[in-house]
Amino acid sequence: MDRRRFANWSLKAGIVAAIAALLPGVVTLRGRSRTSATRGVEPGDRLVFALGGNAGEVITEGSFTQNEAVLAYPEGKSDNHENLAMVCKLDPARVQPPTDMAGTAHGIVAYSAICTHLGCTVRFSEEPMEQAPFPHIHCPCHGAMFDPQHGSTVLGGPAPRPLPQLPIKLNAKGEVIVAGPFSAPIGVKA
Ligand code: FES
Repeated sequence: MDRRRFANWSLKAGIVAAIAALLPGVVTLRGRSRTSATRGVEPGDRLVFALGGNAGEVITEGSFTQNEAVLAYPEGKSDNHENLAMVCKLDPARVQPPTDMAGTAHGIVAYSAICTHLGCTVRFSEEPMEQAPFPHIHCPCHGAMFDPQHGSTVLGGPAPRPLPQLPIKLNAKGEVIVAGPFSAPIGVKA
């Protein structure tokens, strides 16, 4: 190998070695950022208000009255939109299967707030509406309607399946705590 070819070869080898040395760091950084951006709900997470003046505050049994609902995130995990949940306080006597009854507490039941049609954020009916059962959850995008008293069964519109339920329980302070994973994939995922 003449001097010029040897110099070229040395330069290429040096570049390859430099990239190889950087690679583990790059992979680690990517792994870290993916982990922090996709942290899902876990048992024991406290649910906090997602919106409004009390955003970030822990939701308790006394935070809302019967037939009200709030949007919530697991504490510290609002960076993952798939964690967004709707926590409803219903008449305990009217909450029935297919709701996972073990995942409810004193009429409080939580569902994914992401529509299973095309992923819009759903809303809780604030007051009775004509030709719609009360209470219900509806989607403002294409009119899907869900029954929160019966496992968010689809009542109408294009949603192909219920909103996944997020099992909850109350701790000794009356705070709403995640008791398990969502019952099904979130949003448009099959
Ligand atoms: S995104 Fe909810 S009905 Fe279409």
